[in-house]
Amino acid sequence: MTIALDAPRIVRTQPILQATGVSKSYGPVQALSDVSAEVYPGEVLGIVGESGSGKSTFLRCLNLEETPDRGAYTLDLPDVQGNLFELDRYARRMLCATRIGIVYQNPHQGLLMKHSSSGNVAERLLVAGERRFAVLREKAREALDASEFPLDRMDAPPVELSGGMQQRVQLAKAIALEPALLLLDEPTTGLDVSVQALVLDTLKRLQQERRITMIIVSHDLGVIRTLSDRVMVMRQGRVVEQGLADQIFQDPQHAYTQQLVHAKL
Ligand SMILES: Nc1ncnc2c1ncn2[C@@H]1O[C@H](COP(=O)(O)OP(=O)(O)O)[C@@H](O)[C@H]1O
Ligand SMILES: [Mg+2]
Repeated sequence: MTIALDAPRIVRTQPILQATGVSKSYGPVQALSDVSAEVYPGEVLGIVGESGSGKSTFLRCLNLEETPDRGAYTLDLPDVQGNLFELDRYARRMLCATRIGIVYQNPHQGLLMKHSSSGNVAERLLVAGERRFAVLREKAREALDASEFPLDRMDAPPVELSGGMQQRVQLAKAIALEPALLLLDEPTTGLDVSVQALVLDTLKRLQQERRITMIIVSHDLGVIRTLSDRVMVMRQGRVVEQGLADQIFQDPQHAYTQQLVHAKL
């Protein structure tokens, strides 16, 4: 018997992430209703849905910035146990700082716009405990380089950079610590189409080379299709359909997904 070298990307082991029954309301608005998801090591889960469907709220919950009203969240990592929604503030901060990376749609949310780009990346390493200046600088340089950021601009503040470059700084900051989980909330929304394609190429390359477990959220089916192994479709705070990306795109079952897919074709 021979073993194919080009093994399938999705190896069914234990999920690295399990979220179960996550619900969140803001006053009368039910942003999330009983949302469950699981992600396996090294795979990309794409979450798609029109604006207001609860995608960002779900991602903020997974980044432990938001506490849902109900639900459980576990990560299968050494030294990480129990329902993470029940952690105290300090434990949440440390877990996010060391194990989870996030890229927001709005760079103002993820970056200090007037600090240098390298400083933004180094800050994340500092929070995780690194103190040696030379190491901070070298690791920041490596992460920026891996994010295909032009290194001759590494000391420029994000406020002086284009939208695409700002997203690359956020990406460098998110991957600098080799996170167990990378969360991407509409990372290319608002960028010119050509820039969007370049940033997606970088994400795809990083995923292939480093096998980072990712969750990417977008209202744009094309973005989700480019990167995802599995897809979850959300509408009005609920999951309406999930499955392998090919399955969802070629044979959508739910009327809402059919509408999304056909609108895109
Ligand atoms: N901080 C908040 N305060 C009040 N309402 C919110 C807040 N965040 C999200 N919402 C509401 O929750 C719903 C889901 O929003 P969101 O998660 O941003 O959706 P998406 O990212 O899919 O566009 C929307 O109706 C939105 O107005
Ligand atoms: Mg959003």
